[in-house]
Amino acid sequence: MRYLACVGVGLFVGLLCALMAMALTRPRDTYPRAMMNVMKHALGTARATAAGDCAGNESRLRLLGLLAADLEPAFLPGGEDERVFRRYADSLRARIAEATAAAACPAQATALTAVENACDDCHRDYR
Ligand code: HEC
Repeated sequence: MRYLACVGVGLFVGLLCALMAMALTRPRDTYPRAMMNVMKHALGTARATAAGDCAGNESRLRLLGLLAADLEPAFLPGGEDERVFRRYADSLRARIAEATAAAACPAQATALTAVENACDDCHRDYR
């Protein structure tokens, strides 16, 4: 009986330690990184599609726009005064708006290249 109680307590303490270790090692920036990966996928698909007829790119651009609107809350949760970061984020949003407004597919392809450059501009300083 005492043996079983010891095994039970041992398992319980082991579980607690495992949970604590998981909480400590989990990356804290999962949301911003997930957001970046979704943007990468949306932009990659949009650019590949822009080599053809741009079909379905409205929704990809809308997704990019929605995520880009969330850049500051995701990366500067304390409302930090990162003026340069905010300028890069504004620039990305402007390029996405231009790509959305592009009249024809070849123009959209060019605008999407500018979007990608806006991503790279921020990464050069912040990634
Ligand atoms: C205003 C700044 C900014 C803009 C604009 C920006 N990013 Fe990022 N991006 C970052 C930062 C900062 C990181 C590093 C995040 C980290 O490691 O926590 C990052 C990381 C990434 C990553 C790696 C994520 C991972 O798994 O570690 C990818 C992919 C990425 N960005 C794609 C994009 C794409 C695509 C765009 C444009 C549509 C874009 N980013 C625009 C700031 C930006």
